[in-house]
Amino acid sequence: MAAPTTRLFFCLRRQERRLISWRRLWGSFRASFSSSSSSLRRELSPGGMRERAGRDPGLFWGSLAREELLWEAPHHTDCQWDFARGTARWFLGGRLNVAVNCLDRHAQHSPDRVALIWEKDEPGTEEKVTYRELLDMTCRLANTLKKNGIKKGDRVAIYMPVSPLAVAAMLACARIGVVHTVVFAGFSAESLAGRINDSECKAVITCNQGLRGGRIIELKKTVDEAVKKCPSIKRVFVAQRTTSKIHMRSHDVLLEEEMAKVSSICPPEIMDSEDMLFMLYTSGSTGKPKGIVHTQAGYLLYAAITHKHVFDLKQDDIFGCVADIGWITGHSYVVYGPLCNGCTTVLFESTPVYPDPGRYWETVERLKINQFYCAPTALRLLLKYGDEYVKKYDRSSLTILGSVGEPINHEAWQWFYDVVGDGRCTVVDTWWQTETGGICIAPRPSEKEAEIIPAIAMRPFYGINPVLMDEKGNILEGGDVSGALCIAQPWPGMARTIYGDHQRFIEAYFKTYPGYYFTGDSAYRTKEGYYQITGRMDDVLNISGHRLGTAEIEDAMDEHPAVPETAVISYPHDIKGEVAFAFIVLKEHTAHPEVVTKELREIVASKIAKYAVPDHVLVVKRLPKTRSGKIMRRLLRRIVTGGVNDMGDITTLDDPSVIAEILDAFENYKAKHPTF
Ligand code: WT7
Repeated sequence: MAAPTTRLFFCLRRQERRLISWRRLWGSFRASFSSSSSSLRRELSPGGMRERAGRDPGLFWGSLAREELLWEAPHHTDCQWDFARGTARWFLGGRLNVAVNCLDRHAQHSPDRVALIWEKDEPGTEEKVTYRELLDMTCRLANTLKKNGIKKGDRVAIYMPVSPLAVAAMLACARIGVVHTVVFAGFSAESLAGRINDSECKAVITCNQGLRGGRIIELKKTVDEAVKKCPSIKRVFVAQRTTSKIHMRSHDVLLEEEMAKVSSICPPEIMDSEDMLFMLYTSGSTGKPKGIVHTQAGYLLYAAITHKHVFDLKQDDIFGCVADIGWITGHSYVVYGPLCNGCTTVLFESTPVYPDPGRYWETVERLKINQFYCAPTALRLLLKYGDEYVKKYDRSSLTILGSVGEPINHEAWQWFYDVVGDGRCTVVDTWWQTETGGICIAPRPSEKEAEIIPAIAMRPFYGINPVLMDEKGNILEGGDVSGALCIAQPWPGMARTIYGDHQRFIEAYFKTYPGYYFTGDSAYRTKEGYYQITGRMDDVLNISGHRLGTAEIEDAMDEHPAVPETAVISYPHDIKGEVAFAFIVLKEHTAHPEVVTKELREIVASKIAKYAVPDHVLVVKRLPKTRSGKIMRRLLRRIVTGGVNDMGDITTLDDPSVIAEILDAFENYKAKHPTF
């Protein structure tokens, strides 16, 4: 990809820069097109943007980077990449600060614009935070970290529910060059400790307690338990979410109290484009969760541009993404994308059914939300309660409805469109991953009148070049084909590595189809060239839109002394999408299988998280294995989904009688669980 040539306007004041860059853009249009205003419109239209991105992605992103971000020093090279080595680096030579881009520039121009609306768990108690206030909060938090010895390059874990302080914590890290790793506040002490130790965090930022659906979550207690096993932790910063007293330990710091004592001015650390911004742990098909690394400029630009174009953002829009900041959706579309774009972003702390299943729509009415972004699992849950909970609230502010995290079924899509959106809002099914940093396939952007097909992600984003591969690694051309979904070229938001293990990064994403990024998903391309995601190809589950490796659940259960062997597979569920189905082998003469089953559930909750607990646990005498001893999970899937008449190739199966044996156990299980 070509290196950009223009550098000079970076030294200029913002307004002048705007003028110059506009002229430069105009000049370049004139060079390639006639100078009529219709050609300019065409160039800036979704079709034109797509075409420009396809022609030269480096140049496309390079000029967007200059237009959209505020730089301390310009970049000299758009992109360097080599997928054989699993590398992609963007905007080399560029220097900037992410917090300045998300806060200072907006605080300067519109200090009183609302940056955050915190929709607290307690209904009707929202709090607004302006850009000026968020900048103040962020600087004080950053100075508190600095005062406690945290410095550029250190890692800090954030174990907090969605709140302005949690956002300020992320941005405070970004401001002083500290790498944050947000851990979803539903993860257990053991999971938190594992992540802290893998990334050698120096500190944790948490709250005394959390509130969710009216229930109290003991966050500080979980942190206390976790850090006992974390020698790298020097400080635990504790914010006060509830009035409950904090039991202080020697390394604890009361966050708000300390923030009040320090300055509200904190000079930003100027970072290189490719310095690490954050890491976020996610599950793979094998081994421990991997720390996916995102860097400064490319990630920020990609989050902001996808946010602006997929959701057709207008100035003054109020953007409502109800994801938790513990997931990538929260990073890109609650925090970094919206704040970089200077819009008002909603922080949703509660659940869709608290105090009743009208919560989302009551919030939409009260806060006048324009774009609403949620997971299909919530829609599947809510539609069961009927339309009344939706219809009693005014939803006329809504323009775009987004869905993310898992395939959306037709019923949920149609309900979203007809009932929530009154048939007048655009519904976008957005496909992406922790690793992609931002949306990669979605129905918009496209020309306004362009068709949208229900329940499919459809169009690659600007500069995303998807390819489908067959089993042998041949590229599938044309329409009406299914294959492994890969991406052929780098994009600025893509993950750079797995923290501390680049080899694993190569193996997981660049080995299966050499020269391509492999997503782990399969997809179907329609005759018209649209993409429909059909599901994971590896042993990764998607429970309520949350990703989990079957191996992680198996590893946790294997620790039970009475359980020598386990196998976990995915099982369909009408609300959660998928759940874990565990097959367990007990040691001979185990007296109380039901006690063991209960203990296994507890082990999974305490080792991973509550959402990981298998819905079904079936005791079997043995597991189906190949002659070389590999568990054949494929056969287990067939047995429980009624495919016993078509078991596929079983020539490698060690003892075929195992099939009838497991089927028998399964039939017994079903008889005992009538709701199954
Ligand atoms: C996996 C990524 C995307 C951010 C939240 C989840 C599945 C995601 C869709 C969609 C079908 C989807 C894929 C993907 N997925 N969006 N619109 N349609 N499947 O991020 O935890 O990294 O999970 O979620 O299987 O690989 P994640």
